Amino acid sequence: MNPAAKIAALRSQIEQHNHAYYTLDTPTISDAEYDQLFRQLQALEADHPALQSPDSPTLRVGSAPLKIFQEVAHRTPMLSLNNAFSEAEVRAFDARIRETLGLAEIEYAVEPKFDGLAITLTYRDGIFVQGATRGDGNVGEDVTENLRTVRDIPLRLNEPVAELEVRGEVLMFNDDFAALNVMQRDNGEKEFVNPRNAAAGALRQLDSRITAKRKLSFFAYGVGRCEGLTLPHEHHQQMAMLQKLGVAVAKQRRVVQGVAGLLDFYHDIGKLRADLPFAIDGVVYKVNDTVLQQQLGFVSRAPRFAIAHKFPAEEATTQLLAIDIQVGRTGALTPVARLAPVFVGGVTVTNATLHNEDEIRRKDVRIGDTVVVRRAGDVIPEVARVIIENRPSDAPEFIMPTMCPVCGSQIAKAADEAVSRCTGGLFCPAQKKQALLHFASRRAMNVDGLGDKLVEQLVDANMVRTPADLYRLGLLALVNLERMGEKSALNLLAGIEHSKHTTLARFIYALGIRNVGETTAKDLAKHYGNLAQLLAADEASLLAVRDVGPIVAQSVLAFLREPHNLEVIEQLRACGVSWTEVEMQAATILPLTGKTFVITGTLPTLSREAVKEKLENLGAKVSGSVSKKTDYVVAGSEAGSKLDKAHELGVAVLDEAQLLAMLNDLANFPRTEFDATTRQIGLF
Ligand code: IVH
Repeated sequence: MNPAAKIAALRSQIEQHNHAYYTLDTPTISDAEYDQLFRQLQALEADHPALQSPDSPTLRVGSAPLKIFQEVAHRTPMLSLNNAFSEAEVRAFDARIRETLGLAEIEYAVEPKFDGLAITLTYRDGIFVQGATRGDGNVGEDVTENLRTVRDIPLRLNEPVAELEVRGEVLMFNDDFAALNVMQRDNGEKEFVNPRNAAAGALRQLDSRITAKRKLSFFAYGVGRCEGLTLPHEHHQQMAMLQKLGVAVAKQRRVVQGVAGLLDFYHDIGKLRADLPFAIDGVVYKVNDTVLQQQLGFVSRAPRFAIAHKFPAEEATTQLLAIDIQVGRTGALTPVARLAPVFVGGVTVTNATLHNEDEIRRKDVRIGDTVVVRRAGDVIPEVARVIIENRPSDAPEFIMPTMCPVCGSQIAKAADEAVSRCTGGLFCPAQKKQALLHFASRRAMNVDGLGDKLVEQLVDANMVRTPADLYRLGLLALVNLERMGEKSALNLLAGIEHSKHTTLARFIYALGIRNVGETTAKDLAKHYGNLAQLLAADEASLLAVRDVGPIVAQSVLAFLREPHNLEVIEQLRACGVSWTEVEMQAATILPLTGKTFVITGTLPTLSREAVKEKLENLGAKVSGSVSKKTDYVVAGSEAGSKLDKAHELGVAVLDEAQLLAMLNDLANFPRTEFDATTRQIGLF
């Protein structure tokens, strides 16, 4: 046999053994025999480098480390799911679907809800060419090399499908998680809190050889795109087809009829849950017929045809040892319960949030109490309630401090807010640290290597007072810090340097303006196009931004009124922080600019999303609630309180036909070409 044929035969043999071992759980050869085949292939590939190929199983051991993960724009967005926590919510979901489709009973495909991380796998001509994380749903990170190491992700499908995007979840089996933690402990390294966090850590390794050692698993739950293969119409059959192509899918899938079938599945899986080899946090129900799925469409970022029915949060009882006060980025004081360690929801919990002073009063929580701690998924554990009968007679009532425990500033509590806040602003080291951590976080400026311990030291040593100081750090100053060698210092400086090239949306988000989250920052960036326009914004212009209401507008204005903030922005730009700017010259002359619409009820042919898009493209703002400022309410069938409010306030109401006529008229509206030019800003 010539080397090429020998290599091809070995690859195919090894992948069959991988599939038998990792996916089917029924190995057909011993580990030693497998290792021998693997080494034979490695040796042949080393002798004939020209015969190396992206689908070779030898690549599963990982390859040379990457510097950064590249961004990947998803061609089909990666959506999330709405949640149901009760039977009533599941019944309402089914009723909505039956009513919309006019059907008496719905057939559903039902599956476990894997508690891992969403990824998408692209196959071209049957070969695995790219794997990416979900990211924000539109743009994720390229983790191809890491995913190659996941044994039940096939590197080659059983058929050379022209183009296939497989959606699914990467997770770590409980056994692999336990073994990993034993290894971490033996090596004196930090243990992972649960399999999901361990999987997330493994997936984000720049060195795929480390990922390979961490033993990740994968289950597919959907198809993103497909070309060159006729997909069956039913979701369940699509999963069966993926399985035939060699992709791992859950064994615990079923097709059921109606809401009774859904609830039976929920209870059956609930009983199985503790015996499953991997973590699940609920079940997922999907309308089985994909034609009906398309008719139902999407609301915002989640499909109407599917829902996650979550298991209830797990609870455990423990002792409340103390109540500490934590100061957050905006000065909010959060009382935190220090607990005797207790195992709940898959992790050992020693801290739990008590939210705020009112909550402590309402639940009457006192130091020394026996408390019930609750934890669901990734949410912060909370103290659910107190077991009053176990209260020691001398348990003192909690008193909220009147001075910030970190900086000694006054504590203020606004009449309309439940939280108390430290008034120290960025003078308060706690707020400063949190603001810096937010600034550097992955979705903001994405400064690799700047963790909380480091920020703690930099602020305490007075080396960093504002985010701009980060960009002035030098190697000498850094190597003098605790636990900081030259290599880590150089890596951090590289991370800081790399973060300078950013986007306007990330920059706005990084500023940490109150009430401006990632989505609002994106909306602001899109609306204003450049920083100068945003800095010059007034209330009216802010209110014209998608989803910006009076509260957000006031927060932005308050931030911009503070000279110190403008100074830091200037300094950041002077340090070389830059992005591509867009000049928006004609943005104000779209035909519906300044008009606010509310869409309610079900329209005969158009989805609400489609209407929203049409209106926004013409410059309108689409809001979720009717007020005096609303210009039009677009109402379909079963429009409820919003339509009543429109009548009450005398707001014009349009049905779909009237709206379409209006849009048709506007199509002839004289309109200047939208003039957007880009330029690079920043001094370097
Ligand atoms: S379907 C368009 N099915 O849950 C619907 N998602 O909370 C896309 N997940 O981001 C999702 N198990 O990562 C689907 N059987 C399953 C799932 C599942 C886990 C995750 C998925 C998604 C998240 C939403």
